Amino acid sequence: MAALSSPSRILIFILVLLLSTVSAAAASSSSSSSRLTSGNGSDTDLAALLAFKAQLADPLRILAGNWTTGTPFCRWVGISCSRHRQRVTAVSLPHAPLVGSVAPHVGNLSFLSVLNLTLTNLTGPIPPELGRLHRLTYLGLARNSLSNTIPTTLGNLTRLKSLDLGFNQLSGQIPVEMLLRMHNLMVINLFSNDLSGQIPPHLFNNTPFLKVISFGNNSLGPIPHVVARLSMLEILDMERNQLSGLVPQAIYNMSRLQIMAFAYNGNLAGIFPSNQSFNLPLLRFISLYRNNFAGQFPSALESCRYLEVLDLGDNFLWTLCQYG
Ligand SMILES: *[C@@H]1O[C@H](CO)[C@@H](O)[C@H](O)[C@H]1NC(C)=O
Ligand SMILES: *[C@@H]1O[C@H](CO)[C@@H](O)[C@H](O)[C@H]1NC(C)=O
Ligand SMILES: *[C@@H]1O[C@H](CO)[C@@H](O)[C@H](O)[C@H]1NC(C)=O
Ligand SMILES: *[C@@H]1O[C@H](CO)[C@@H](O)[C@H](O)[C@H]1NC(C)=O
Ligand SMILES: *[C@@H]1O[C@H](CO)[C@@H](O)[C@H](O)[C@H]1NC(C)=O
Ligand SMILES: *[C@@H]1O[C@H](CO)[C@@H](O)[C@H](O)[C@H]1NC(C)=O
Ligand SMILES: *[C@@H]1O[C@H](CO)[C@@H](O)[C@H](O)[C@H]1NC(C)=O
Ligand SMILES: *[C@@H]1O[C@H](CO)[C@@H](O)[C@H](O)[C@H]1NC(C)=O
Ligand SMILES: *[C@@H]1O[C@H](CO)[C@@H](O)[C@H](O)[C@H]1NC(C)=O
Repeated sequence: MAALSSPSRILIFILVLLLSTVSAAAASSSSSSSRLTSGNGSDTDLAALLAFKAQLADPLRILAGNWTTGTPFCRWVGISCSRHRQRVTAVSLPHAPLVGSVAPHVGNLSFLSVLNLTLTNLTGPIPPELGRLHRLTYLGLARNSLSNTIPTTLGNLTRLKSLDLGFNQLSGQIPVEMLLRMHNLMVINLFSNDLSGQIPPHLFNNTPFLKVISFGNNSLGPIPHVVARLSMLEILDMERNQLSGLVPQAIYNMSRLQIMAFAYNGNLAGIFPSNQSFNLPLLRFISLYRNNFAGQFPSALESCRYLEVLDLGDNFLWTLCQYG
């Protein structure tokens, strides 16, 4: 048995996979419909961008010298526009220290498809108005200090492919209906927030294309059984939560699963299925460290030929084979 419990190793694993999946999702989503609606919303977009800028400290003057009304906003740093008219389709300023809170006016950028404010030193709540961005395919607000609850209005973002809110201070429960209408969702990352309570049991009922669920380092409740029906799922990260009870048996029969991270939940238990019901052909990483798993791990694990990390330490398992 490999006694690996290094959280950084888990993180690197997950981050590498997240990055590749997220960029794939974004790449496939950059086209925007150019059917005309009535009116010219350019003025609204301009007002929204100026309101966004006005609410940020911008210590390195990234926006200050560039987002000026003397230049058309389509040429501002971080802004992309639709080809045939002056409407904002992307606001992408990752790694720019903006410092401050997100103005609700961003919800007026009605042609927005990509909002990438990853690692921009944002504080305050996520404005509920973002739920009005019905063309949004990518919402990246990870690695900031956003607080308060996740607005329920985000459930209106039906075209979203990637929702990345990891590494913030979001609290409260995951809104019950958050994903119910996100039929195209491929990635959801809520890693390392202060979320608590039950994971809504029906959360994943209508997300058939999900590849990544990263809910680690929160205080969330049991694993919904429907997770096992997500046939595209590659990463299931639920480590460092308050999961208890039994892991649904069907989770050991997921043909695309690569990462199963359940470490540090304390009371999570499982009855491993027999060889016949154990089928994780692409498994690369499994960690059940510090839980209540008992019994014999199926020797069918030998058939996981891509396995790199196996960490079953601090449980009540017996007859472990040698791997590695
Ligand atoms: C958003 O920014 C992050 C951090 O730089 C980057 O990894 C990611 O690919 C970007 N995604 C999109 C869709 O712009
Ligand atoms: C703003 O930044 C963009 C992209 O870096 C650059 O092309 C443009 O010339 C800048 N505009 C001004 C007014 O500095
Ligand atoms: C919309 O209005 C802006 C100025 O307010 C103008 O530059 C732009 O060409 C207009 N677009 C269309 C499609 O009329
Ligand atoms: C981010 O904000 C904090 C305080 O809010 C500040 O201490 C830190 O230097 C900022 N980082 C950057 C890169 O501006
Ligand atoms: C845009 O959004 C803000 C705040 O959400 C609102 O006050 C404003 O009236 C909206 N409309 C326009 C055209 O700016
Ligand atoms: C969707 O938006 C409407 C308003 O446009 C709002 O009343 C409703 O609560 C939103 N739905 C969700 C799930 O947030
Ligand atoms: C988990 O979150 C806490 C704060 O909530 C943070 O201090 C810690 O570094 C996080 N752990 C990991 C492995 O990200
Ligand atoms: C395993 O999953 C496949 C579909 O992915 C299903 O057909 C099969 O019945 C499952 N086997 C068991 C033992 O649950
Ligand atoms: C389970 O499968 C493994 C490898 O696929 C095999 O070595 C082992 O004998 C099997 N065990 C049982 C009880 O069938």
